[in-house]
Amino acid sequence: MTIVEPVTASAVAEPVGSLAVASRSIVLADRVVPGTVVVENGVIVAIEEDRILDEAEDWGDDILVPGLVELHTDHIEPHYSPRPKVFWEPFSAVFSYDAQIAAAGITTVFDSLRAGSDGDSSMLGARLFELGDAIEKAKATGLLRVDHHTHLRCEICAADVLDQAREYLGRFDVRLLSLMDHTPGQRQFRDAEKLRDYYRGKKKGMSEEELDAFFAERIRLHERYGVVHRRALVDIGHARGVALASHDDTTVEHVEESVADRVQVAEFPTTLEAAAASHAAGLAVLMGAPNVVRGGSHSGNVSAIALAEAGHLDILSSDYVPVSLIEGAFGLVDVPAIGGLAGAIRTVSKNPAEATGMTDRGEIACGKRGDLVRVRLLDGHPVVREVFRLGRRVS
Ligand SMILES: [Fe+2]
Repeated sequence: MTIVEPVTASAVAEPVGSLAVASRSIVLADRVVPGTVVVENGVIVAIEEDRILDEAEDWGDDILVPGLVELHTDHIEPHYSPRPKVFWEPFSAVFSYDAQIAAAGITTVFDSLRAGSDGDSSMLGARLFELGDAIEKAKATGLLRVDHHTHLRCEICAADVLDQAREYLGRFDVRLLSLMDHTPGQRQFRDAEKLRDYYRGKKKGMSEEELDAFFAERIRLHERYGVVHRRALVDIGHARGVALASHDDTTVEHVEESVADRVQVAEFPTTLEAAAASHAAGLAVLMGAPNVVRGGSHSGNVSAIALAEAGHLDILSSDYVPVSLIEGAFGLVDVPAIGGLAGAIRTVSKNPAEATGMTDRGEIACGKRGDLVRVRLLDGHPVVREVFRLGRRVS
């Protein structure tokens, strides 16, 4: 397995704070305990089990969980491009997105940006760099609520993906790079008819003949670029110490390829067999939290709950709805193989942190960042009430 450079400090000094909070349910990495958590200058310095310290703010029955770590959220793109061909001022879009992410209890986020034009009009194209500039500018203010990193999602069959990825990696810090292939008949769209339905809905007015031509072009690009671009991107990722993610692995052969490429995260495997093989090979299996909340995959592939029940699920990601991350984690609590509330919360904190080399966060433990979230259960729904990043309230 590739060793990813540990992330211990950000380029911009992060503001810190101190606090002491008490809860009857502090979710540690391996168990839930009552007590008090003390944060000084941004770092957890004490966990007093079974004790409510006098100086602590008492959160009563509200649950104290570590700040959530999100590896794959698409949500920045719709803030920047809320309608097809409509672009919001990117600096403003980043702050608006940041606030929504924080309110969902996420304190570390990998902003997921797509590189490579695949004929889908919702792709950013060259505007990718405008958004990258805005994220950097926003980070430099020190005013973002959440700690932001970048997940570059590379559509490997796109003719321009290498140029875009090289430029992005040259200009910006990228910590996770995923290798996607959405060719009709492959992986997520092994059933090409499902992709056809998707485009029928999305590109209204496209005739069946035009869809045929569009699909034929996608298959031509797959044959021309799929192998060579994947190889180049894997080499670039390793050369720069960027963690790699596979995407929509479907067969054992896909997983073998991911293992050979020293991939660390298996995003959205589409079958039980691919998830089982990935997990057994030591890859962290990531599934969409909306899949848990909605009770199944929107693409008709394997359900996240089925993978959790089989013991193959390691990480949840909010994918396209930020609040689904906390809701999805609580939705796993009753799955026997998960390990109760502590195990469920690990899928949205410790596991994603470890998979990307972030050793300073992801759990409530002495020496870790004081990233804390106060959650109340209302009619079984987890509601995020307060969020602290490095001991400072951010939502
Ligand atoms: Fe996909």
